[in-house]
Formats: sequence, C-alpha cells, structure tokens
Amino acid sequence: NTHPLLLQTWGVVSACPFHCVCRNLSESLSTLCADKGLLFVPPHVDRRTVELRLADNFITEVGGNDFVNMTGLVDLTLSRNTIHLIRPMAFSDLESLRSLHLDGNRLTILGPKDLSGLINLQHLIVNNNQLIKVSIEAFDDFLLTLEDLDLSYNNLRRVPWESIQNMASLHTLNLDHNLIDHIAEGVFGELYKLARLDMTSNRLRTLPPDPLFTGAISPTPYNAVISLNFGGNPLHCNCELLWLRRLIRGDDMETCATPAHLAGRYFWSIPEEEFTCEPPLITRHTHKLWVLEGQRATLKCRAIGDPEPVVHWVSPDDRIVANSSRTSSFSNGTLDILVTVARDDGAYTCIAINAAGEATATVDLKIIPLPHRGGAWLAEQRLPSLAFVFSFLFFSPPPQFGTNLDILCRFP
Ligand SMILES: *[C@@H]1O[C@H](CO)[C@@H](O)[C@H](O)[C@H]1NC(C)=O
Ligand SMILES: *[C@@H]1O[C@H](CO)[C@@H](O)[C@H](O)[C@H]1NC(C)=O
Ligand SMILES: *[C@@H]1O[C@H](CO)[C@@H](O)[C@H](O)[C@H]1NC(C)=O
Ligand SMILES: *[C@@H]1O[C@H](CO)[C@@H](O)[C@H](O)[C@H]1NC(C)=O
Repeated sequence: NTHPLLLQTWGVVSACPFHCVCRNLSESLSTLCADKGLLFVPPHVDRRTVELRLADNFITEVGGNDFVNMTGLVDLTLSRNTIHLIRPMAFSDLESLRSLHLDGNRLTILGPKDLSGLINLQHLIVNNNQLIKVSIEAFDDFLLTLEDLDLSYNNLRRVPWESIQNMASLHTLNLDHNLIDHIAEGVFGELYKLARLDMTSNRLRTLPPDPLFTGAISPTPYNAVISLNFGGNPLHCNCELLWLRRLIRGDDMETCATPAHLAGRYFWSIPEEEFTCEPPLITRHTHKLWVLEGQRATLKCRAIGDPEPVVHWVSPDDRIVANSSRTSSFSNGTLDILVTVARDDGAYTCIAINAAGEATATVDLKIIPLPHRGGAWLAEQRLPSLAFVFSFLFFSPPPQFGTNLDILCRFP
C-alpha cells in the first residue's frame, strides 16, 4: 500500500506503515513517523530499518513485538510521547542501536531488564520523565559503550552510582534537576573521559573529594577541560568543601546555603579560611545506669559539631559495639541493649567523630544480677524467691535502677 508517488520519489520501499514516510537513501532505510497521532508503535515497520522516528505521538507503552528483529536499527527516537511502561526486554533485539531517545515521556521506573540487549548503546536520553527509581542493573549491557547519559529533570533521589562509576566511555552526564542528596565517594575516579557533569538543582549539601575534580587543575589528555556544574544545591560550606574551593575556577554561580553566616554568598567569593568545621563536643550523656539483668538498657550520648558527628560505642572489653540481635548502635548516639546479661556490666566509651576531630565520654553500666534463675531452685523455694524479688523491686530506692533512667544525664 505504498503511494505510487513515493515509489517514484524515494527508492523502492516495500512496506511502510500507514501515514509514515519511508526513505531508502544510500542503502539505509529510515522510517519517519513523527507527529502522526500514533497510539502505538506501528506493527508493519520494515525490520531492516536503520532509523526509526516516533517522536511526538501518543504511544503509551513499548515492548512485545514492537522492535523484534530490528537488528540493524541504529537510531530510535521515542521523544515526547506518553510512554509510562517499557516492557522488560522491549529492546532486546536492538544490538546495533547507538542512540535511544526517551525524553519527554511519563516513565517512573527503569527496571533491571527494561534496557537489556542494547550492547552498543552510546546515547541514552531519558530527561523530562517522572523517574523515581533506576535499577542498579538497568545499564548493565552498555556500561562500557555509553558516552552520553541524560537523566535530568526527573524525580530521582538516588542514582545507581555503582554502575555509573563503571561507565568507562562516559563523556557527558546530566543529572540536573532531580532530588539527589548524595554522591558516593570516588565514583568519578575512573571516568577518564568525562568532560561534562551537570548536577545543577539537586539537594546536595556536600560533595566528596574526587580525583576527577582535582583533574580540573591538572588536566589529563581526555578531560582537558571539564565542565562541572552544581549550582542550585543547598551547599553546606564547611571544611569538607575546602578541597573544592581550592580548585581554580570562579565562573560559576554556586552559593552556600549553610552555615547561617555564609548563607547566600557565592561559593567562589568566600575566602578559604571561612570554610571551617567544629570538632565534636559531647553535650550530654548517660553517666551511670543500673539495670536489672534481663532488662533493656539504653545508653545515650549526644554530640554536636560541624559536620554532625557520628557516635560509636566501645564496650568494656574494648570492642566497637556493632548491631546484633541484642544490641543496636544508632548514629545519633543511642546504644540499645535489648536484653542485658551479666557480662554487659562495665564501663562503656562513646566516641563522637567528625572531620574536625573526636570527643569521648565514659558511661558505667551496672547489671544487677537476678538472685537465681534455676528451675529446680525455684521449685524448692518458690515463695522465698518471689518474696525476695518483690522486696527487691519495691524497697530499693527508685532512682537506682530501671531501664531508662539516666541518672546524671545533664549538660556538663
Ligand atoms: C534499499 O535500496 C537498496 C538498493 O539501493 C536495496 O538493495 C535494498 O534492499 C533497499 N532496502 C529496502 C528496505 O527496501
Ligand atoms: C523475527 O524473526 C524470526 C526468525 O527469523 C521469525 O520467525 C519471526 O517471525 C520474526 N518476527 C517478526 C515480528 O518479524
Ligand atoms: C545499626 O542499625 C541502625 C538502623 O537500624 C543504623 O542506623 C545504624 O547505623 C547501625 N549501626 C551500626 C554500627 O552499623
Ligand atoms: C536515636 O535514633 C533511634 C532510632 O532512630 C531512636 O529510636 C532514638 O529515640 C534516637 N535517640 C535520640 C536521643 O534521639
């Protein structure tokens, strides 16, 4: 059903989807179906097509047989449709595809198999969607070939840094206008070809030091000029960002959000001496806690500092207390021992650490042993034993034991 005029104008093209234009120029077939009011990928696309343009339609999902057998397809454009679903393996036959445009759709997730099979992909453009999650495996098939990744203007809080850090050919990475609050340390260390990184308008408070950024002062053959943008982030300008401030730059418009006295000032205009940290100061902590064996003990240690200190606990036998079924050590300084045993007794040390230093405090935990817990003994002396426990419970002065009594939990 090819129009006779088309037969004359363009080379001989056997099957062309209704409304689309198909050109067989210089022996490579282009199927041009942009802005044709399509609701789905037309089924009769010639499988030998090299370029397939489907932008500006109303396609809602892709997959099934849409791109089956299109092993020669190099360029696929699906921009500005209403795609909310990519079926797993939708592109699995597209072994020659170099460029995939999915921008301006309604994707919320890139699942582990959604992009499987794209073993030669170089350009992946998924900006202006509604992505909240990108699977760690989503990019696995083209980690070494991808040059250009655009995930900007989405709703991502996290990106799979684990896979991005392996994209050895990556040249341009656009992650701007998302909700990203964390960059893993060292992710750019081996991206020797990266020339452009845009992190504008995210929620970053800090950036970890990275060889890539320091490459900005000693360029390698690959990244002679690296463009790095991180304006529009709520940067916390303390000593942790000093390394960045020391880079020779100055043309960007980044500002500091905190601390209060630097709020709103241009990052590059603040003298290095003002990027300061405060070592930890333990403001309050449990001093001595008495707990009946078998009960719960909660040790507290509060520290301030800039950056916010992390608190660790060291047990009486000099080990860092880790999480276990019986104990939880929270970074806010709370140590919970759910069911105490006699050997928990002793002096604990809380250590508050940040980039500027550390502080310690000692907490004494006294475990009051139960008088006896043997079944035979109880059977023989049930009444006296219970009486003993009750007298113990009722006649001891209340502040001397309990689960949550911080006897001297005050400001020093
Ligand atoms: C395109 O034209 C060439 C000859 O110029 C021909 O060999 C090839 O089969 C045509 N391809 C299609 C899809 O029609
Ligand atoms: C794909 O190719 C296989 C094997 O050549 C064939 O059996 C199948 O019908 C083709 N599918 C489509 C949708 O063209
Ligand atoms: C213990 O687990 C809590 C969350 O349950 C976590 O916040 C904390 O960092 C963990 N502590 C250690 C020492 O791993
Ligand atoms: C510390 O964090 C834990 C877990 O999030 C919470 O149960 C506890 O109340 C917190 N402690 C303080 C003192 O805020």
